Amino acid sequence: MAEVAEIDVKELERLDGSRAELWAQNTWRPLFARLRAEEPVSYCPESFFGPYWSVAKYEDIIAIEDDPATFSSSWEHGGIVIFDMHDTNVQLRMFIAMDDPEHNAQRKTIAPAVTPSEIAKLTGPLRERTGKLLDELPVGEEFDWVHTVSIPLTTAMLATLFDFPWEDRHKLPIWSDWAAKIDIGPDPVLNAEREKHVFEMAAYFKKLFNERKALPPQPNLLSIMAHSEAMSDLDDQRFMGNIALLVVGGNDTTRNSMSGLVERINLFPDAWAKVKADPAKLAAGAATETIRLQTPIAHMRRTATRDVEFRGKQIRKGDKVVMWYNSGNRDEDVFPDGDRWDPERENTRRHLSFGYGIHRCLGARLAELQLATLISEMAKRGMTPRIVGEPERLPSCFTSGFEHIPVIMERDDG
Ligand code: HEM
Repeated sequence: MAEVAEIDVKELERLDGSRAELWAQNTWRPLFARLRAEEPVSYCPESFFGPYWSVAKYEDIIAIEDDPATFSSSWEHGGIVIFDMHDTNVQLRMFIAMDDPEHNAQRKTIAPAVTPSEIAKLTGPLRERTGKLLDELPVGEEFDWVHTVSIPLTTAMLATLFDFPWEDRHKLPIWSDWAAKIDIGPDPVLNAEREKHVFEMAAYFKKLFNERKALPPQPNLLSIMAHSEAMSDLDDQRFMGNIALLVVGGNDTTRNSMSGLVERINLFPDAWAKVKADPAKLAAGAATETIRLQTPIAHMRRTATRDVEFRGKQIRKGDKVVMWYNSGNRDEDVFPDGDRWDPERENTRRHLSFGYGIHRCLGARLAELQLATLISEMAKRGMTPRIVGEPERLPSCFTSGFEHIPVIMERDDG
């Protein structure tokens, strides 16, 4: 018996959810189902990103997020992704990668820009922009959903939030992709390329920031930062980090939800038919379910600040602890039949895609609004994007999403 148990533990140790091929090939589900069932808190002694702990179940993820004193987000320990950012020149000292009190002072600066009343102001132009883009899509002809729909829509919203020069907005997704690229690990050539893009982004934004600082306050993110106490005088790493946070936060995540929507529509045509029949009732639920199942940020990482026993495991000071939101979002104890896309699922809003606790996503409402708008405008037009080839996925255990999805748009009326 003892031998069998030993073999099982060794095998579980190899259950390394960070492997790029699992994400590129979309084969990670059975691994995490096994972790949830057999070893919900497990140690992976060796991976591309070094040793780390995996936390796979919903309640355990919440417990970690609820104890930031023990499980730190700080960049000083390596930050909030499985890859240690302090191994590079791009340390991204952003407030998501800080502990309180510095985190909270900066969070409070940004929060007023994304209150329900501020977001309400964006609703009309967003609906108009989304409808126009959908009306211009080719019908009966193949196109790439990611580059034709997801990227232009999310880039336009981000440019609006920053009041970013419209003619240069194509730069935003390029910078965002490079800033979020952790799958390159310590590769010096790719890290140099990453640095180049992130420094270019910081320089561009710094110029805009200084211009806004010299003007009276305006309702855009850069002006709000420039005229605030906590964020008007950041050092270079902190400025660059926070810009990267807002650009990646507002960009890759929502984009990959919009792309994941197409996959869900194709996997669950009956559910999509229901949404099309009653978008006023179901678009919001469909958006939330899509964000739950896509889990565009597959994990967040914390670092233990002391030796601690957690669910019977000895976690040592300095250990990396990876919370797998993709797994928590499919936890059988919380979401029965969790892989099913069900716009009427009662507890879908409990999902972990936006995290939990003091760092919970500031842009959650805005992301939901963008997705629900896309869903209801497609439904109103009787549109179904049919996937006509193998989607190309990102090889990343951090930003879970798509590079390309070939589709043909079908319309109920033709
Ligand atoms: C579907 C879209 C989105 C997803 C899945 C997402 C996901 C997340 C996650 C997982 C966190 C960390 C939570 C934690 O550590 O507990 C986070 C934080 C954050 N997100 Fe989002 N996000 C999305 C959209 C946005 C948008 C549109 C914005 C801004 C315009 C944004 C801005 C932020 C910011 C500023 C934080 C840091 C909050 C803090 O540390 O206090 N996010 N997001």
